[in-house]
Amino acid sequence: MAKQKKKLKGKKNGRNKKKSRFTAKTADKYELYQLSVQSPQEDVEFLSDTYRKIRKKRPYHFREDFCGTALLSATWIGQGRKHSAEGFDIDPEPVTWGKNHHFADLGPAAKRMTFHIADVRRPSKNPPDVRCAQNFSYWVFKTRAEMLGYFKKARADIARDGIFVIDLQGGPEVYEAMEEETKIDAGFTYVWDQDEYWPVTSEAMFYIHFRFPDGSRMQRAFAYDWRIWSITELKEILEDAGFNQVDCYWEGTAEDGVSGDGIFTKEDKGEACLSYVAYLVAQK
Ligand SMILES: C[S@@+](CC[C@H](N)C(=O)[O-])C[C@H]1O[C@@H](n2cnc3c(N)ncnc32)[C@H](O)[C@@H]1O
Repeated sequence: MAKQKKKLKGKKNGRNKKKSRFTAKTADKYELYQLSVQSPQEDVEFLSDTYRKIRKKRPYHFREDFCGTALLSATWIGQGRKHSAEGFDIDPEPVTWGKNHHFADLGPAAKRMTFHIADVRRPSKNPPDVRCAQNFSYWVFKTRAEMLGYFKKARADIARDGIFVIDLQGGPEVYEAMEEETKIDAGFTYVWDQDEYWPVTSEAMFYIHFRFPDGSRMQRAFAYDWRIWSITELKEILEDAGFNQVDCYWEGTAEDGVSGDGIFTKEDKGEACLSYVAYLVAQK
């Protein structure tokens, strides 16, 4: 039977029992996003451990494409004095929010972060050991030619023994028009809205909404105009871009037998799941 795994890494399910400080009027959408879908410690651990296993040494310089508030980069830098990062995003709004919320209190360590308000196809200041694009953001590239162009630039940009890591979601449920509600411990409901999907072009329109215990709502806090890409398509494009080896890392199954356990290991075939999240790790 097909399994149901979690669609967004690090979702924090809760029961909204305690009194919530959140309402649509007072809540900050970037804080809500972070509480709903981001798990920076786990992500940094995966990226660091994967590089270490492949290259038999520690990675120090990191690049976060589509960085938004750059929470991942802030977490990366927190690993130690030798760790540095660069973040790329075309929108100054989340970047400014991130600077104020994740970097302002870091003191001198914040100097090890470089922000670029620029397209992800622009080069880094220094070649990264690990470069990543998280939460499927690279799905803004809708044609094979655009995706290949992006992957080629990423390959040329990383260090000689660097790795490029992207995550993706898949499974038959990704193509369904549906809304999925998740109660978040902090005291609100996160809604992943798969609003529309066009099979001929594989384009899709997704939204994130938030709902609050007082009945108020924040509709379309975030909107994603994407093409849905499959693992196989992306693996082939990474190989065409010149990466030496491309591996899929698949999530294990939790004790309940249906949800993901947050542990990703190398896998050749995968398994039939209604929805899943996986990584592709490309070696230069
Ligand atoms: C879903 S958010 C990603 C936030 C964060 N990386 C995460 O893991 O949750 C997508 C971000 O990509 C940025 N973006 C979209 N197209 C871009 C491009 N071509 N180059 C750089 N940033 C881009 C948007 O401004 C937005 O902040």
